[in-house]
Amino acid sequence: MATRTCTTFSSLLLLFFLFSAANFAPVTSSDHTDEYLLSCQPFSHTTVEKQSHFRFYWHDIVSGPNPTAVTVAEAPGTNTSSTFFGMVVVIDNPLTIGPDANSKVVGRAQGLYASAGLKNVGLLMLENFVLTDGKYKGSTISIMGHNPIFSEVREMPIVGGSGLFRFARGYVQARTYSFNITKSHDAVVEYNVFVNHY
Ligand SMILES: *[C@@H]1O[C@H](CO)[C@@H](O)[C@H](O)[C@H]1NC(C)=O
Ligand SMILES: *[C@@H]1O[C@H](CO)[C@@H](O)[C@H](O)[C@H]1NC(C)=O
Repeated sequence: MATRTCTTFSSLLLLFFLFSAANFAPVTSSDHTDEYLLSCQPFSHTTVEKQSHFRFYWHDIVSGPNPTAVTVAEAPGTNTSSTFFGMVVVIDNPLTIGPDANSKVVGRAQGLYASAGLKNVGLLMLENFVLTDGKYKGSTISIMGHNPIFSEVREMPIVGGSGLFRFARGYVQARTYSFNITKSHDAVVEYNVFVNHY
């Protein structure tokens, strides 16, 4: 039977302790992880983690005939709440290279945000930046964080990614570029994305 073992630095350490008599203990395999573990090896030492800085303009279009952000749920008290507490909005917002809505679209921010602050406006953001242009086409960056939209800079964690962003970690900084507070409630937000990946 083929037995796969995980060769890591810690197993070398274990060997070291095994051969220093004081710590001797018999090593027996009492579980069956080798039956479903396909491989386990040191993460490549030759690939270097890099940090990429992207800037996107995120267009939250709630008005007009083709909104990209739609309210899908609210609590009975959302309309009377000063913070819209309980509102849930699903988004497929274009990500463009410039603040102008007609500038080149290079991705979409798909996901949702929920108004999760009782006393102060604070959104829970759950969004995937799905890139659609150039070498990053098809790769995604996943963001989950706290977005107090009236603060000048809101920092939110990058919790993962796919494709070229596999193993991603990092953060984004969101700054409101424009917000039509009187009528349409459409917003443009500048996202600076600092993502570590391989
Ligand atoms: C809240 O207000 C919106 C817009 O006026 C309305 O469409 C919606 O039905 C209201 N919701 C509740 C729970 O009252
Ligand atoms: C706000 O939205 C309204 C309705 O779409 C529009 O007429 C107005 O020009 C907008 N204001 C700004 C400052 O963009």
